Amino acid sequence: MISTMRTPLIAANWKMYKTPTEATAFLTSFFPLVKNNTAAEIVLFPAMPCLPALVDAARGKSVFIGSQNMHWMQEGAYTGETSPTMLTAIGVTHVLIGHSERRQYFNETDTTVNLKLKSALEHDLFPIVCVGERLEERQHGRTAEVLRLQVSIALEGIDPVRLGSLVVAYEPVWAIGTGKTATPETAEEAHTMIRSEIARIAGQELAQATRILYGGSVKPENAASLCCLKDVDGALVGGASLNPQSFSEIVASASERPKR
Ligand code: 13P
Repeated sequence: MISTMRTPLIAANWKMYKTPTEATAFLTSFFPLVKNNTAAEIVLFPAMPCLPALVDAARGKSVFIGSQNMHWMQEGAYTGETSPTMLTAIGVTHVLIGHSERRQYFNETDTTVNLKLKSALEHDLFPIVCVGERLEERQHGRTAEVLRLQVSIALEGIDPVRLGSLVVAYEPVWAIGTGKTATPETAEEAHTMIRSEIARIAGQELAQATRILYGGSVKPENAASLCCLKDVDGALVGGASLNPQSFSEIVASASERPKR
């Protein structure tokens, strides 16, 4: 029996920002700001060199540390890559898969997203699979088609019973780092499409239990209106997560979300 309680998840994607010293300084300021948080799960995705220091600093606190990427193989001659086993060995619990910047600049495809998702599940890493349409795809009325394809290839060949920990992040590419947030209606429509595609592939029960986050220019000023939507279960935050104060305000906005 899958739990249908979708606890909000607020995640920080720090991209290629912050050294280990800056990352631990963030945590020192951030912990007191979220000490009363019970509304949301919090995950930070720092750059690779920060992972060991942040895992250590977050031990015993209710903040999880994830990697922004990983290879799907356990080991091999893949210069510059990091394996799931290496991540779990240092205490990393979550992994971002298929962020649009990796798709755009590093040849990440729906097929590699699928390989990485399978591998993350095999290694007990909590996956956040990122999907989202580009501006020209939206302008040509292809949003539904693009989202369905991204979700269906990501989940291909995976037994639904193994997908209990799946989280999907809807990040419209035109909203990332642009200050152009999707309107609540646009976000809700996309989230509903994604949930219905998960239901088609893996069943209604899993779809209702799967958390779908919104990402793209989320800020303290707009977080509550996005997180309160019926099909939005939290946020994946870039720029506004670099500052402990603004990220803690986004975490606090999760408490305004009705329980579901
Ligand atoms: P911004 O919040 O800076 O738009 O970035 C969103 C994002 O890419 C999170 O993964």
